[in-house]
Amino acid sequence: MPDPAGTTSATGLLAAIADVGVDRRRGGYSRHGFDRVELALREWFVAEATRRGLDVRTDRNGNLWAWWGTPGPDAVVTGSHLDSVPGGGAFDGPLGVVSALAAVDLLRAKGFTPTRPLAVVVFAEEEGGRFGVPCLGSRLLAGTLDPDAARRLADPDGVTLAEAVADAGLDPARLGRDDEALGLAGRFVELHVEQGRGLVDLGAPVGLASSILAHGRWRFRFTGEGNHAGATLLGDRRDPMLPASATVLAARRAASHVDGARATVGRLVPNPGGTNVVASTVDVWLDARSGDDAGTRAVVGEITAQALSAAADEGCEVAVTEESYGDTVHFDPGLRDELAGVLGDVPVLATGAGHDAGILAARVPTAMLFVRNPTGVSHAPAEFAEAADCAAGVVALAAVLERLAG
Ligand code: GLV
Ligand code: MN
Ligand code: MN
Repeated sequence: MPDPAGTTSATGLLAAIADVGVDRRRGGYSRHGFDRVELALREWFVAEATRRGLDVRTDRNGNLWAWWGTPGPDAVVTGSHLDSVPGGGAFDGPLGVVSALAAVDLLRAKGFTPTRPLAVVVFAEEEGGRFGVPCLGSRLLAGTLDPDAARRLADPDGVTLAEAVADAGLDPARLGRDDEALGLAGRFVELHVEQGRGLVDLGAPVGLASSILAHGRWRFRFTGEGNHAGATLLGDRRDPMLPASATVLAARRAASHVDGARATVGRLVPNPGGTNVVASTVDVWLDARSGDDAGTRAVVGEITAQALSAAADEGCEVAVTEESYGDTVHFDPGLRDELAGVLGDVPVLATGAGHDAGILAARVPTAMLFVRNPTGVSHAPAEFAEAADCAAGVVALAAVLERLAG
C-alpha cells in the first residue's frame, strides 16, 4: 500500500505477495507461466498499476504493459517477470517489477512527469518453468520463437501453451512477433537481483550489467526397455538410466574443458519412475552456458558424443532436442555509459543468468541494473536482498527513468 507520502517500498510490495505461490513440498516459490499462481500475481500487478493510474494493456503474447502517459513510440520501458523456477526465491523477477512500481511512486512524489511514455512491463514465463522455454513471452514478442512451435509446447501434465493462454483469456492464434507492442519501446531497463556474489565482493549495493553468457537447453531422451528390477538379469537389461547417469557426469567434465563454461543437469525424469522398475525412458535436461557460442557448442558436442556412446554401450537409443538457445548478449554500451553517468561509479558486471533483457537487447537498446544479493544464491529459497539495498535499487532505477523519460 502507498505510504502517506505516496511512495511504496520494494520490500513492502514484495511482502504483499509473500504468500502467493509458496511451495510447501520443495520450499521457496513455484510460480509458473499462466498457472493459477502466476495469474493471481498478474491480477495483483494490474490492481497495483491501476491504483497508480497506469493504463494496463496485455499484448498478444500475454505480457502486461502498464503505461504512465499515453502509449507511444520511443517509450522508456522497465520491468521484469513474476514467475519463478520450481522452488525458487522471492526476488528473481518480482524485485524488478516491484522496484519499477516503487520507482514510479518515487518519481511522482518528486513531482516528476515523464515527457516521453513510460511503461512497466511484466513478461510471461521468463523461467520456462512450465513450458520449458525460458523468456517465452519476450521471445514471442521479439519474434525469436516460432509461434507454431510455441503453441505446441506442453507442460508436464500435457497442457499445451495454446490451451493455457486460451484459459487465460488470450487468443492462441495471435501469439508471435508483435512489432506494434515492441515497436513502442525506445529503451528497456530491467532491474534484477544479482545471482552471484559480484556486488558482495565489491561492496556495492547496485551495479550495471555488461553481458550474458551464450546459453541454451537440450533434452536427451534415452529409450531402453522397461522391465522388472528383480527378475531381469543384468546382462538382459537395456536400462536408460545408465546412459542418463553417464550424461550427468559428462556434463561436469565437458564444462571443465572450456574456460568459464557451466553445464547442469537439474532435471531428470524416468518413465514410469518406480523403485522396482527398470525405466523404459529417461529424459535428461541439460543447461549449458559459456562466454561464446563456440564454447557452448563445444561443451554440448562433447556431452552429446558421450551420451551417444553410453547409450550404445547399454543398447539404448538417444534423441537430442535443442529446446532453446541464445547467443552471448552484450548490452548497449551507449545506454550503459549513460546510466553510469546517472549512477556514478557503479560496478559493471557480466552475468551467467538469462533475462528478458537479453532477448530485448537484439531489438531495443537495453540495460540492466543489479541489486546486491548477500547470499550469492539464486533459483533457491536462500536468494535474498536487504531492504536497504532494495531501496537503493529503487532510487537508482528512478534516477535512470527520470533521465531517460525526462
Ligand atoms: C534464468 O534465470 C536463467 O538464467 O535460466
Ligand atoms: Mn531466474
Ligand atoms: Mn529473472
